Amino acid sequence: PLSAVLARGIVVCCMSQFSAYTVSIHYDRRLYRQDIAGSIAHARMLARQGIISDEDSASIAEGLGRIQLEIQADEFPWDPSLEDLHMNIERRLHDLIGPAAGRLHTGRSRNDQIALDMRLYTREVVEEVISGLRQVQRALLGLARRYQPVVMPGYTHLQRAQPVLFAHHMLAYFEMFQRDIGRFGDCRRRADVLPLGSGALAGVPYPTDREFLAKELGFSGISANSMDAVSDRDFVVEFMAASALGMMHFSRMSEELIIWSSGEFGFVRLAEEFTTGSSIMPQKRNPDFAELARGKTGRVYGDLMGLLTTLKGLPLTYNRDLQEDKEGFFDTVDTLHTTIQVFAAMLPGMELQSERVESLAGESGMLATDLADYLVGKGVPFREAHGIMRALCRHCDEREIHLLHLPLAEYREFSTHFAADVYDITAAASAAARDNPGGTAPSRVAQALDLAEQILEET
Ligand code: ARG
Repeated sequence: PLSAVLARGIVVCCMSQFSAYTVSIHYDRRLYRQDIAGSIAHARMLARQGIISDEDSASIAEGLGRIQLEIQADEFPWDPSLEDLHMNIERRLHDLIGPAAGRLHTGRSRNDQIALDMRLYTREVVEEVISGLRQVQRALLGLARRYQPVVMPGYTHLQRAQPVLFAHHMLAYFEMFQRDIGRFGDCRRRADVLPLGSGALAGVPYPTDREFLAKELGFSGISANSMDAVSDRDFVVEFMAASALGMMHFSRMSEELIIWSSGEFGFVRLAEEFTTGSSIMPQKRNPDFAELARGKTGRVYGDLMGLLTTLKGLPLTYNRDLQEDKEGFFDTVDTLHTTIQVFAAMLPGMELQSERVESLAGESGMLATDLADYLVGKGVPFREAHGIMRALCRHCDEREIHLLHLPLAEYREFSTHFAADVYDITAAASAAARDNPGGTAPSRVAQALDLAEQILEET
């Protein structure tokens, strides 16, 4: 009867409308290479163990090879009604090689399959990120070398504080990225564990050889607990946390580049291709790339928080919620990757306005600490010297005179320890005096540069 047909029609329509909710093929297809590599290794292992025939294994491998080419040529018939990557590939394999395709999923579940794909993928992107961060470090080192002797104002509270070498400032970022690289290395170590063989959650009732699979796929070891292996996404969280920190470092650097390239500071000029004009104000050179890196940091934090929240209430073992690990992860991968590329290209083209930063570094206030240290050198206790210099600085502010232009007689009104050598205190002398490990003295910075270069050469 018509009503039944209509009712069924409605049901079918609703089902197809809502089944879109479960579909992941539009984003998990990104994992096709990992999925195919895992399947080929699995089929080979099944044949070695006598679980399937050698002929079936060979034809599975051959069919998967063709599928990989189809995907690469953009000729693969993706079908959302098959829900995910795994089912799309398996169906296509069946079309290509027939019933042998049905033997591939022996002793495997999509639960350990997707865990495998994610680990393979994470291992790969970690490599890319690390080599990208090395490039950024190389660019920082290049800048530090190019402007090695330049002294600039160093800041606390964004108030001019003490003179530092520009190279020292660049090397500070080198250190941050060095720690980021360490964190990505940690992430790689923990991702480097084979989950395949865990089955749906409890293991598999076949004589599989997990060690062989690990070797085939280049893993250092196999997971110890099948329940953990199918539901663990810690390694994704670790990648995203390391990415969030990395982006935070790019964001801090961006903030400085934005401030430094303002008219008020005028410390640096960014290369034309990394600035944009305004559609209305002809004079503008906006630091959009740095601003966007700062802005995109927010979404990477959001991705991390999203996954942590997805995971927090999940009972063991696999839950479909875990499918939600991917989009934010991929977004983080893409955002970090492009940010790294932008910085690796933008930094070498940055020009330091050496004269301007050097003249600001020599301005009176910047040397007040050194003058206090000068008094300490003459036997005055530091606290007292600090008080004398505070009063002197206030005096200079009121008189609107540069500390170094103040006549000696006036100096001596504040302390009779002042003598003619007070005028020897310059920004360069101030930096050179910070000659302890980690300090900004040119000799220390030169050592730090050599060490940094060595680190880059060794990796
Ligand atoms: N698309 C799924 C995911 O990404 C694959 C595993 C599906 N497993 C299942 N039992 N439905 O997590």
